[in-house]
Amino acid sequence: MFTGFRILQICKIFAATVALLVVATGCAQYTAPQAKRHMVAAANSHAAKAGLAVLRAGGSAVDATIAVQMVLTLVEPQSSGIGGGAFMIHYSPGKPEDGLDDNFQAYDGRETAPAAATDALFLNSIGRPLPFLMRQVGGRGVGVPGTLRMLEMAHKRHGKRPWKSLFDHAILLAEKGFPVSPRLHAMIKRDKHLKKFPQARHYFYTPDGEPLPVGTRLRNPVLAATLQRIATGGADAFYNGAIASDIANAVRNSDWLPAEMTTLDLARYRARDRRILCRPYRQWRVCGMPPPTSGGIATLQILGLLEQFDLSRLRPGSPQAVHLISEASRLAFADRNYYLADPDFVSVPTDGLLDLAYLRGRGRQISAGSSMGAALPGVPPRVATRERAPDDGDERPISTSHVSVVDAKGNAVSMTTTVGMPFGSRLMVRGFMLNDELTDFAAVPVRHGLPVANRPGTLKRPRSSMAPTIVTDSQGRLVMTVGSPGGSSIIGYVAKTLIAALDWNLPLQDAISLPHHINKNALTELEKGTGLENIAPALKKLGHIVRIRSKTSGLHGIRVLPNGLEGAADPRREGVAIGD
Ligand code: DON
Repeated sequence: MFTGFRILQICKIFAATVALLVVATGCAQYTAPQAKRHMVAAANSHAAKAGLAVLRAGGSAVDATIAVQMVLTLVEPQSSGIGGGAFMIHYSPGKPEDGLDDNFQAYDGRETAPAAATDALFLNSIGRPLPFLMRQVGGRGVGVPGTLRMLEMAHKRHGKRPWKSLFDHAILLAEKGFPVSPRLHAMIKRDKHLKKFPQARHYFYTPDGEPLPVGTRLRNPVLAATLQRIATGGADAFYNGAIASDIANAVRNSDWLPAEMTTLDLARYRARDRRILCRPYRQWRVCGMPPPTSGGIATLQILGLLEQFDLSRLRPGSPQAVHLISEASRLAFADRNYYLADPDFVSVPTDGLLDLAYLRGRGRQISAGSSMGAALPGVPPRVATRERAPDDGDERPISTSHVSVVDAKGNAVSMTTTVGMPFGSRLMVRGFMLNDELTDFAAVPVRHGLPVANRPGTLKRPRSSMAPTIVTDSQGRLVMTVGSPGGSSIIGYVAKTLIAALDWNLPLQDAISLPHHINKNALTELEKGTGLENIAPALKKLGHIVRIRSKTSGLHGIRVLPNGLEGAADPRREGVAIGD
């Protein structure tokens, strides 16, 4: 087993110079985790080890992902779990006669609004939006969880090991306990609301009400019993019967803004099989998740808009590179906030938004010499009129998890999975956290008399930014799998990493570690404590409004090298990449 990441974690990767120089100096002893056969990259070493054990037992990439997700539910409850939702894309090496996109599946396990939800979900009695805290904490923000149904759907198609066996690691670890990690401790400590919820208070705090210290052995026998039921009864054991009724009751009886979720909402939840979005980018093919996430379209738009520029001639982290990527990102976010929402409820012009001529035309707004300022949404082909209002695209970051797996047969998974904000709604049911994902809906359903695409609605899925991504070469051979948490910053994290790995040919670890810069069609955010702070004056001269901010991504990826696999875990979190 190869685990090089710890050495990286203690490196001064954020030294005051661009990452290429950092890599050449401060981290010279670092060797990226490599493997010959199979690999897992995930946010926690217990979870990654569970996935690796499944791969060693002959499991597929999907089998390993299920084992990883079950352990993440236990050890990283602030980020993801069976009480949340996920998007997964799957690649299998195709036969030559297959079309390139036939090698892919795109699974949508996004949470849905209960049937009782209306577009006034987050409005108060006089039609004003509830403060974010009230939307997020308690019952109102909880969507019907989708992760388990999605994993079951993927397992039916790609699983090699019995479903039941994939829960063994998580059940055992939940019974015998795991050490509270520094990040879990820090997240409990900084949370102002977790303690107000009895189950969470009992589980995450000492009897004196202090956050559990780092290293405390934390047992979760209640979750072990829940996972045991799902292991033997399948996802049905979650969506029907006692677990489902406990979920609905927790939402309905929440002391903080209860909501009308019913057992029927759970029973009728369906994961969706979506059409993968693949587009050429230079000599590669980049594949992402279609709506209801905006992640795939926005990432592909950024790349498409930048294709007119020879980025390989620019230095990573240079003012010109950051400027061009920021400008492309402005344009992508203007379209995102205007057009993107659940395609089962709103017409989303996916093909138009990725149309080459459309992007070429829109790309003409990018000038090397000055910023365009706030971009306006475009009018893609076959979109006749503008009949909507944009939303503010406001989402708060910090939790969520990304899992990348490549198995011995060359199948790959890229899955981003979430409970929303840290610890989701803070409602804990049967040992796991319930999400607050409905807060990804625009709180204000109508602006200037026009409907907002991403307004809440009955049985609708809130727009996401999650961007699980897989890259192949032009022949359809696997190049890399990657993705990240980070709310709407996910799009920028993933786009930067793709550009760094593909255009700048950086090792995947360096591409992930490279300092972040984010533009969501307003500020240009530069990652705090990195060499990017030095380029703020140059960007200001180009017309950017610059802010220095911490950017806590959690990118996990695997890249195919001529002699094996290179794994990479984000030094900003606790992840690992391990393989054989
Ligand atoms: O679906 C989404 O895009 C968000 N609800 C994910 C939340 C997230 O990534 C939080 N932070 N890191």
